[in-house]
Amino acid sequence: MSTAGSGQNAGNESAGSASGTVLKKTFPHVDLDGHNLPPSPAPSSPHSGRRYAIATELVYTEGSDQYNASSVPIYQSATFKQTSGSGGGEYDYTRSGNPTRTHLERHLAKIMSAQRALVVSSGMAALDVITRLLRPGDEVVTGDDLYGGTNRLLKYLGTHGGIIVHHVDTTTPENVETVISSKTAMVLLETPTNPLIKVVDIPKIATIAHKENPNCIVAVDNTMMSPLLLNPLELGADVVYESGTKYLSGHHDLMAGVIAVNDTSLGERLYFPINASGCGLSPFDSWLLMRGVKTLKVRMEQQQSNAQLIAEFLESHGFKVRYPGLRSHPQYDLHHSMARGSGAVLSFETGDVGLSERIVESAKLWAISVSFGCVNSLISMPCRMSHASIDAKTRQERAMPEDLIRLCVGIEDPNDLIDDLRRALVQAGAVNVSLDDFQAVHPTNAATTN
Ligand SMILES: Cc1ncc(COP(=O)(O)O)c(C=O)c1O
Repeated sequence: MSTAGSGQNAGNESAGSASGTVLKKTFPHVDLDGHNLPPSPAPSSPHSGRRYAIATELVYTEGSDQYNASSVPIYQSATFKQTSGSGGGEYDYTRSGNPTRTHLERHLAKIMSAQRALVVSSGMAALDVITRLLRPGDEVVTGDDLYGGTNRLLKYLGTHGGIIVHHVDTTTPENVETVISSKTAMVLLETPTNPLIKVVDIPKIATIAHKENPNCIVAVDNTMMSPLLLNPLELGADVVYESGTKYLSGHHDLMAGVIAVNDTSLGERLYFPINASGCGLSPFDSWLLMRGVKTLKVRMEQQQSNAQLIAEFLESHGFKVRYPGLRSHPQYDLHHSMARGSGAVLSFETGDVGLSERIVESAKLWAISVSFGCVNSLISMPCRMSHASIDAKTRQERAMPEDLIRLCVGIEDPNDLIDDLRRALVQAGAVNVSLDDFQAVHPTNAATTN
């Protein structure tokens, strides 16, 4: 729960009114750092006190509940009564701040090694908030293998917001160096990329960006890794964001987005559009996400070890597999120099779109579904599903194989998952079966180019 003193944590429902003098007294931070910003929930102070290992930090919480509730209470209230006519309450309006949301934000800031975390209604809402830092004429440098929704939002900003977006293969930092200039206001990275599982050198690109323009914001989408496996803020990023819909919550029962920063004035600038537009996470979803995040380590570790076995199974039977846990991944060393694990998303090629369709439809334990990070295993064809919003021409330019199958591995028994996949491969006609083995009909792994 917030530790802010009275007034500091209040929202701005009343801060926008005409009685400026009274407000300035009640809300002393109305003009924070020279910006005309409303007061906001107290900055998280995650680094105070002893730091434990992440497994402990994930479950350990402190609160100030009057009944010492073990689970943070859900403050399902839009408004909070004030102590006087000029405000004075810690919270006033849930769009601006809510105790359940603040509790989650403080917890996530601690886990993400950040000074401040903000939670919003989806991963895309998080990116929307971050891109509101941009002004017409600003340039953005980003990858050529991005989540489809990210691509869609950037395209919209390019068409309607006067933002110039450069898509380059960010796996080669020199490509970023070529397009970056003093006009580059933001570098937006995903690693590993989705669905091609390409790895991006965050420290190197952050150095290039900040050298060219010290004000350039380096933002990293950390959804694929989660804070358990990667802390982009420790590698030079200014902003990290994640879809909380994925690993952080883990059960595909809520939508959420998380933004984390170390620069608290940047945190205030990001808070502004959240308060202004009302995309802050609802109290109930904040509670659900708080519950989900506590099991992140046990879920992710099981998912990751399952993913490793499945990647090895597919590769050993002739399929080209993209997974950072495989030695054949061309950026194996780079990935492991930044991350503490390989994650649980992998993709593979079959050499034939029809074959891929049949495999996906033959799987039983693997649900055909977009998204990832759920305890259940999922299978999809990104070009038809999560990335269908990228037009076919662009997909071709970005060398996205149309036959690509993405596997998002859950926590089930790995032998059951492999059996189900083996059965689907046989049923779809994707493998030649002999007495003691089976191999891909169209072996793709020899031509690993990534
Ligand atoms: C890498 C990545 N970033 C962001 C998002 C968007 O998150 P949300 O669906 O919560 O808006 C997704 C969703 O699939 C994603 O895969």
